[in-house]
Amino acid sequence: MRTKVKFLIDPNNIPKTVGNEYTVKGWVKTVRDQKTFTFIEINDGSCFGNLQVIADANLPDFKAMIAKLTTGASVAVTGVIIESPGQNQHIELRAQSLKVLGGADPESYPLQKKRHSFEFLRTIAHLRPRTNTFGAVARVRNALAFATHAFFQSRGFLYINTPIITAADCEGAGQMFQVTTLDLKAPAKTKEGAIDYAQDFFGKPTYLTVSGQLNGESYACALSDVYTFGPTFRAENSNTARHLAEFWMIEPELAFADLQDNMECAETYIKYILKYVLETCPDDMKFFNQYIEPGIIERLEKVINTPFEHATYTYAIRILEKSGKKFEFPVSWGVDLQSEHERYLTEEFFQKPVILTDYPRKLKAFYMRDNSDGKTVAAMDVLVPKIGEIIGGSQREERIDVLDKKMREFGLSPESYWWYMELRKYGSVPHAGFGAGFERLVQFATGLDNIRDVIPFPRFPGKADF
Ligand code: 4AD
Ligand code: MG
Repeated sequence: MRTKVKFLIDPNNIPKTVGNEYTVKGWVKTVRDQKTFTFIEINDGSCFGNLQVIADANLPDFKAMIAKLTTGASVAVTGVIIESPGQNQHIELRAQSLKVLGGADPESYPLQKKRHSFEFLRTIAHLRPRTNTFGAVARVRNALAFATHAFFQSRGFLYINTPIITAADCEGAGQMFQVTTLDLKAPAKTKEGAIDYAQDFFGKPTYLTVSGQLNGESYACALSDVYTFGPTFRAENSNTARHLAEFWMIEPELAFADLQDNMECAETYIKYILKYVLETCPDDMKFFNQYIEPGIIERLEKVINTPFEHATYTYAIRILEKSGKKFEFPVSWGVDLQSEHERYLTEEFFQKPVILTDYPRKLKAFYMRDNSDGKTVAAMDVLVPKIGEIIGGSQREERIDVLDKKMREFGLSPESYWWYMELRKYGSVPHAGFGAGFERLVQFATGLDNIRDVIPFPRFPGKADF
């Protein structure tokens, strides 16, 4: 039976492990060859720390084996746990038998002991999870996902799965990847010479979804509170440190709820998952605190312990106009907020997360509920330092006549959204929801600068490797 490193190096387990025999399997981080002993650091990904193995030169076949014991090699070691005289660890494993399962040629193995740039590591995305940083990111990402389910489940939300392939453009922004089985070299044509989508797989044009929200609303309008957590896709040509073409989104939808309820849910959710990560990934967080973003633990603790700020879009514009700052994109009422504006508000002006509400209706998607001023909608964006927008959401337009009129105004046909309209025709209720960008949450929790480094295999313009 194999035991994970996490269990063995946990100081709480020491009294019961010392003197007992265990088998450990993992990858060699470093080897220090002394005359009579060899020290081998082994990591199996179960935790940040390594297990120190001490191998006696008298072990059978030791000479032949030590040549293959290089950084990156996979090994199986059986031995006895002893208390360690060393400063850096409480225990070590004194090997009784040691097997190299797969060697790693030191001439070509790209992850030698020095520090590598994140740019370089992106070119070896299949091996980068073996580094300290990417192992830690993977564990924190896992903890954030688990905490997401724990949070919504504890509030009685049902986890639902919404389709990946869809005919509807939820955000109405036209940034969708098309899905087709038509022969691109010679697609079927109609009499008029247009592409004949009746011949396509689904009999009409289809796309990868940009959001599961519309389907989520259908289930919320039956089951009260639901959430999806799945991949979403945007064919936007944004080469930035916070955009991906494929990213994961958490989308709760709350029935019998207004914007206030929505904001409360979003704030409590963010605080819950950050607290969970600080509690369950202390070693990974200590590493980020030391090497990635000094002070991040304190910053997250402050986020957890202080109420978020609230401001309307209109007020935010006034703040930006009065800031005396020269922005690349000039500010006036009605403009879309750019990253530089969002970051000024949350980092410099409020110096904490802020929820902006009541955006101009023209800037936001068709489904957002019109306010009575005729100019704004019940929208909310949660902005956080370093990232800017981390969550976008709104109260939904539940009045069928208002929605019908607005869709026509926005150039959408209510007929093609007939099922969405019927949610307003039969038993309509006030409801609200939001989308949290999962990778932006991971960035926020780890301090990593580039979103491409918080998803295992990033997809962005020009890159779909691995
Ligand atoms: O603001 P967005 O576009 O909102 C929606 O899609 C709504 N339908 C969500 C809802 O109400 N159910 O996107 C939501 C969040 C953003 O705040 C951002 O965190 C993230 O998704 N996001 C991206 N993350 C990475 N790369 C991209 N290209 C992203 N676009 C949006
Ligand atoms: Mg948004």
